[in-house]
Amino acid sequence: TSNQMWGGRFAAGPDAIMEAINASIGFDRRMAAQDIAGSRAHAAMLAATGVISDSDAQAIREGLLTVLSEIEGGTFTYSTALEDIHMNVEARLKDIIGEPAGRLHTGRSRNDQVATDFRLWVRDQLDAADAGIVALLRALLAQAGAGANWVMPGFTHLQTAQPVTWGHHMMAYVEMFGRDLSRVRDARARMNESPLGAAALAGTSFPIDRDMTAAALGFDRPCANSLDAVSDRDFALEFLSAASICAMHLSRLAEELVIWSSAQFRFVALSDRFSTGSSIMPQKKNPDAAELIRAKIGRIFGANTALMMVMKGLALTYSKDMQEDKEQVFDAADSLMLALAAMEGMVRDMAANRDALAAAAGSGFSTATDLADWLVRVLNLPFRDAHHVTGTLVAMAEKRGCDLPDLPLADMQSVHAGITQDVYSVLGVENSVNSRMSYGGTAPAQVRAQIARWKEKLG
Ligand code: ARG
Repeated sequence: TSNQMWGGRFAAGPDAIMEAINASIGFDRRMAAQDIAGSRAHAAMLAATGVISDSDAQAIREGLLTVLSEIEGGTFTYSTALEDIHMNVEARLKDIIGEPAGRLHTGRSRNDQVATDFRLWVRDQLDAADAGIVALLRALLAQAGAGANWVMPGFTHLQTAQPVTWGHHMMAYVEMFGRDLSRVRDARARMNESPLGAAALAGTSFPIDRDMTAAALGFDRPCANSLDAVSDRDFALEFLSAASICAMHLSRLAEELVIWSSAQFRFVALSDRFSTGSSIMPQKKNPDAAELIRAKIGRIFGANTALMMVMKGLALTYSKDMQEDKEQVFDAADSLMLALAAMEGMVRDMAANRDALAAAAGSGFSTATDLADWLVRVLNLPFRDAHHVTGTLVAMAEKRGCDLPDLPLADMQSVHAGITQDVYSVLGVENSVNSRMSYGGTAPAQVRAQIARWKEKLG
């Protein structure tokens, strides 16, 4: 039998394969609540503008609540023949209220309907991402505050570079996730316009009030161009782009947690709640959550690329290609929220090993730069010469298997006669980090100032 929504010009129903490739109900049912909210707003507006009667609008609005409760209660029967969530809801509404259901689709189309539903769905995800990032920021701030003056090695090339503080390292991630938060907020502000009432593409001849539906759905305003309203998916792409950058940050932190929790580093102990064991090796405590975060991030990058590919060749306005937007965004959103929550839990629970951090901070000639700076400051050597002298001293220490503070003064003087006992005062890691008082530097006082600034910002 032909389709009940457009059967008028069709003599035959679709082939089973046509139905299979065409249907989106298998996934777009996740937008049921948004679809019903959009339809309820549309019906109220149609009545307020005199396009349909108050009694029809009331029947539609109440009937839609019944449909929603069936969906939420798990008693709703989805039909693939009805293609998508929009037609499934409308068909069920017709079962419940009869003839007035057919008046709901006046002055709108599935094109503005799906654009509206999807915007509402993505907006909820932007809000969820906002909350998830804020929670992670708070966990990082708690770690930073607890160890604002704990020394650890700072790395470049994963080789010991200079001593830094644990608090400083945590606060580096606060800056990154803080920018992610602002990207999410920017995206939300930009996307919060209503496509509803753009109708199929050209607008409608009915005297609709798009400001009214926009306001009812929490949008700041209606989209200003009906063609753009039904063909724009940049709001989804902006979500995926912001999610991708945030995911990249999550993955870098995950990678550090994997390294830091190893027996070779012992910088952190992850909690039992966020670790797994091995079925064969009894000693194992594995950082699986960090590894899965690192891996899941690929889905988010993939979704971003996939939707870019879907959109890039489409002439205006709607093409069915655009139905492929949702699964990508759904999967990316699920992955991001889970990764944010898992990272927040891991960070909140983890215990930094202050002794292991301090021991590592002092090894690997981490204060060589402090020594070179001393030669510049006290002996007035050009930095390039100071670098060379220090390099010679590092090679000497390396040969002897000792650290820089263990080199006897006489040996230092054999490399540069001007070196005095005072040099030892800059070879300690505590001195090194305390001296890095430049704005944004690793000195505990600087780190505490940044923690205070962020706490105030987050409220
Ligand atoms: N299921 C469709 C989608 O997700 C809804 C819009 C259908 N519009 C159309 N003109 N066929 O994109």
